[in-house]
Amino acid sequence: MVQLTLPPHSVVKKGQVVNPGTGANNVKKFIIYRWDPETPDNPRTDVYEIDLDHCGPMVLDALIKIKNEIDSTLTFRRSCREGICGSCAMNIDGTNTLACTKPIEEIKGAVKIYPLPHMEVIKDLVPDLTHFYAQHAAIRPWLERQTPIPPDQEILQSKADRAKLDGLYECILCACCSTSCPSYWWNGDRYLGPAILLQAYRWLVDSRDEMAGERLDNLEDPFRLYRCHTIMNCTNTCPKGLNPAKAIVEIKKLLIQRR
Ligand code: SF4
Ligand code: SF4
Ligand code: FES
Repeated sequence: MVQLTLPPHSVVKKGQVVNPGTGANNVKKFIIYRWDPETPDNPRTDVYEIDLDHCGPMVLDALIKIKNEIDSTLTFRRSCREGICGSCAMNIDGTNTLACTKPIEEIKGAVKIYPLPHMEVIKDLVPDLTHFYAQHAAIRPWLERQTPIPPDQEILQSKADRAKLDGLYECILCACCSTSCPSYWWNGDRYLGPAILLQAYRWLVDSRDEMAGERLDNLEDPFRLYRCHTIMNCTNTCPKGLNPAKAIVEIKKLLIQRR
């Protein structure tokens, strides 16, 4: 019989319960994943009891309150606090989303917060996105042309061509979709995943770009594109309401059309 040994940090233990003792009526529990690479300890979940009468309405407000007032070691990313930078993406109440736009009142019971799934963790709620960003760079996410553009000239776009970018340009590269995709969990080393493929499609349909052929050549690969099995987790989780699964289908259609 095969014996499997779990990696040393795969077991998440129960950690401390912190109640700042406010005696408040409107208390909510936040159960938060903690892991510090500088200690030999396993990950744990700490519980913080927060007085919602003295906290902003979003999950990020509670995290900032914990960091400022209770436990300054709690580590997470955030910047814009209005759903634009993508840095506060994490798994909240079982769904990948943005902490700054997730209302606490939408969550029944304790608020469970984990890092984005199936990513290496740097510390606490901070995932390592190095590979994700390298995959983004690999699709050459910028305008490429063969026809030179005089420096004083704009490349004009019709309203109809500009409209083709709607539903694509709004992507904030938060990685919620890719880290919800089972195909990306198992094949993320070679499968580009929904976020990067949505970005790839954004440049394929930009009327000002002239490298569609080369872009399609780069995507026509059994792993880079064709690991998508239309499970739709990506579209269901996107906090910006975008549809990466549809973008992937459109890339596949472009590949069929050019044959
Ligand atoms: S498609 Fe949505 S979930 Fe995916 S990276 Fe872009 S904004 Fe985030
Ligand atoms: S539709 Fe494709 S990219 Fe989206 S979750 Fe499913 S397999 Fe992943
Ligand atoms: S802090 Fe920028 S998207 Fe949440």
